[in-house]
Amino acid sequence: MWEKHRAFERNSIFLTVGILIVVSIGGLVELVPNFYLKSTIEDVEGMRPYTPLELKGRNIYIREGCYNCHSQQIRVLRDEVDRYGHYSLAAESMYDHPFQWGSKRTGPDLARVGGKYSDEWHRDHLIDPQSVVPSSIMPAYPFLADAPITGREIQRSLEIHQRLGVPYSDEMVENAAVDVFAQASPDHPAAADFAERYPGVAVRAFDGDPRRVTEMDALIAYMQMLGTLVDFDLYDGQADINLR
Ligand code: HEC
Repeated sequence: MWEKHRAFERNSIFLTVGILIVVSIGGLVELVPNFYLKSTIEDVEGMRPYTPLELKGRNIYIREGCYNCHSQQIRVLRDEVDRYGHYSLAAESMYDHPFQWGSKRTGPDLARVGGKYSDEWHRDHLIDPQSVVPSSIMPAYPFLADAPITGREIQRSLEIHQRLGVPYSDEMVENAAVDVFAQASPDHPAAADFAERYPGVAVRAFDGDPRRVTEMDALIAYMQMLGTLVDFDLYDGQADINLR
């Protein structure tokens, strides 16, 4: 036994390969079951795919690199739960491609920012962060308010998410370019169809201007739904037991 080990100890390449093999076996044993166990992502009520407008907002969030300063993952630690609300569940990011977890926080976690502020607050904050938070070091994104949405690429985006396993129906994909406007303009002719496809979803002029649908509408629509889908009153007493 020790004689054989000598071969590893005397040859660094041999040792490196040996370590890689052992670590890979350990890694596979830890990782692979997670892809097959049903309990990895627990079933929670309320989760739904993003609407086209919210998904557009999410694409803008990624494009602008908001994730460089903001995580979307509340850990099970007491201080995080006290500050941000219920810790994040795996199911809450099951339709996220790519997910926005992360550990880099120059600004606060945004996993439950939905409903925390008014639409006007978000608009003012994105146009000029220091107008609402004087000490803010967040960059300004005023150009979003002047960038109209075209709807062209959003259909493609839904299509790709459908292919990745997000349960968008073909009808949702086909109508994405219209739905993206219907959610941000309450008088839109397709408003009723939209409400049928996405029941219970907020329809309003998120940027305060119903005449134009801009990237600002999309980003605020996304911000305002973050962390609001799961009703934690249903789960209190179950999920919380592990925490306290
Ligand atoms: C350079 C780092 C940085 C980047 C990039 C950044 N932020 Fe921030 N953000 C901050 C900081 C710092 C704060 C806390 C001060 C404040 O509220 O402005 C903050 C606060 C926020 C808040 C308020 C959170 C709360 O709970 O009070 C929201 C919402 C937000 N950012 C959204 C965004 C969005 C959307 C983007 C991308 C378009 C973005 N941020 C990009 C640093 C950043």
